[in-house]
Amino acid sequence: MKSKREEYRHLVNKIVKCTRCPLHKSRKNPVPGEGSLDSEIMFVGEAPGRKEDERGRPFVGMAGKLLSDLLTKIGLSRDEVYITNIVKCRPPGNRDPRPEEIQACLPYLLEQIRIIKPRIIVTLGRHSGKTLFETARLKWAPLSRIHGKPYTGVVEDVNVTLYPTYHPAAALYNPSLREVLEQDFRRLAEILEEIRNKPKTRKTLFDYM
Ligand code: URA
Repeated sequence: MKSKREEYRHLVNKIVKCTRCPLHKSRKNPVPGEGSLDSEIMFVGEAPGRKEDERGRPFVGMAGKLLSDLLTKIGLSRDEVYITNIVKCRPPGNRDPRPEEIQACLPYLLEQIRIIKPRIIVTLGRHSGKTLFETARLKWAPLSRIHGKPYTGVVEDVNVTLYPTYHPAAALYNPSLREVLEQDFRRLAEILEEIRNKPKTRKTLFDYM
């Protein structure tokens, strides 16, 4: 049986070689994700932008700087969380990812969730929120109504709390959303604390590896 780290390395190799959708033709670098494989918290954005495509790392542009600031404000560093996207390759011109691209890439995210087993997944923006809510068979609603609230679900046999909030890029575009995001992150810190004080409901073999 492979260790968590071996499974993850194998998955990254698959992402790096992926040709499942046309985005592989225009990408400079795939962006699998980064951070701690032991993290209790995973952040899922939309898709890499220009800077991320150049560097092969998620959230390293302006939206990434805001995400790092939001994390710092609640006492978390990028190293101790795991950050990824719904789609691992940059859509040309930063257009929205297409439904068929999201579907082609989704198995990689599901495998990341199965390997890392986060207790809370923060979905950044509509694409990531809607996709993960549907995967967990939860009812999606406009972000303005459901952001900043925890929803319990099961993804890849993992019991998770899904926590939808706005994409940091939305707050760059519309500064009034910044305070909303900050408020959602403050609530996130409280929920994380509550989750940390609650034992996991079901241990798997992975928990002992
Ligand atoms: N926006 C995203 O959704 N993901 C990134 O990695 C960067 C910007």
